[in-house]
Amino acid sequence: MSFVYLDGAWLRPEEALIPVGDRGFLLSDGIYEVTPAYRGRFFLMERHRARLLRGMCELRIDADITRVERVHEELLDRNELRDAEISYVYLQITRGVAPRSHAFPTDPVAPTVYAFAREYVRPSLERWNAGFDAITVPDRRWARVDIKTISLLPNVLAQQAAVDAGVKDALLVRDGVALEGAHNNFFAVFGETVVTHPNSNVILPGITRGYVVELARELGLEVEERPIQVEELARADEAFFTGTTTEIRPTVEIDGRPVGSGAVGPVTRRLFAAFIERLERHAAAR
Ligand code: PDD
Repeated sequence: MSFVYLDGAWLRPEEALIPVGDRGFLLSDGIYEVTPAYRGRFFLMERHRARLLRGMCELRIDADITRVERVHEELLDRNELRDAEISYVYLQITRGVAPRSHAFPTDPVAPTVYAFAREYVRPSLERWNAGFDAITVPDRRWARVDIKTISLLPNVLAQQAAVDAGVKDALLVRDGVALEGAHNNFFAVFGETVVTHPNSNVILPGITRGYVVELARELGLEVEERPIQVEELARADEAFFTGTTTEIRPTVEIDGRPVGSGAVGPVTRRLFAAFIERLERHAAAR
């Protein structure tokens, strides 16, 4: 039986209802965060919290998040996910319920806070070893995608384009630059150099992205944070996406053309092995 959290109450999903005046519903006026847990232990929770706080500041949404960690923990318990290999908590905060107008409500309203937990099943090693495919899709998003807003329509359409094309990921391209995925960050590998777009207003500062950059440096790999031109992909040796619900996903084909040899490469393998080892250690320390 599953339970979700809504404004201080623990409810069955079908009982959790929001008023039609919620500004998240009417205006996409809200923010969200997705935090993974490995065998019931949240991973990089502090970084997710910091990103949420920064976003709330940028959007001027003033919610009390002192109990947020407690809610995360309780979601795992109430949904019997404490022993799940991988699970994640989705948390959303909107500006609250008010008569519809574009500007903020003049009388302060309480933000709406909603959260649920779900299990995540990693693809089998066999599937992972075969690699995944992607297509490039024009990036149609606004100019502040560094804020994790719930306003995801361009991401939805991009991901659907990938589904329609029968591929796994959508690689968003703007002005000839491969920025990130519809719900994950993007890396290309040239020899032993790992390249990803620098954090700026045109990508989400992925928590997994940051962790993988650190991991790559620890493994002695060269890391370059710079824009990747789409044309460069023709001579990339490897490519992969990263994210909370992606982990490290090797991409062996983009727009029908093989990346490098068309097989999962050694750098991606090394990074994934190190990543899994870290996660194992993290989970074991519970
Ligand atoms: N997506 N880029 C975009 C556009 C994203 O939506 C996400 C996360 C990422 C990866 O960030 P992180 O490593 O912190 O998960 C990059 C979440 C998981 C989602 O929308 O469900």
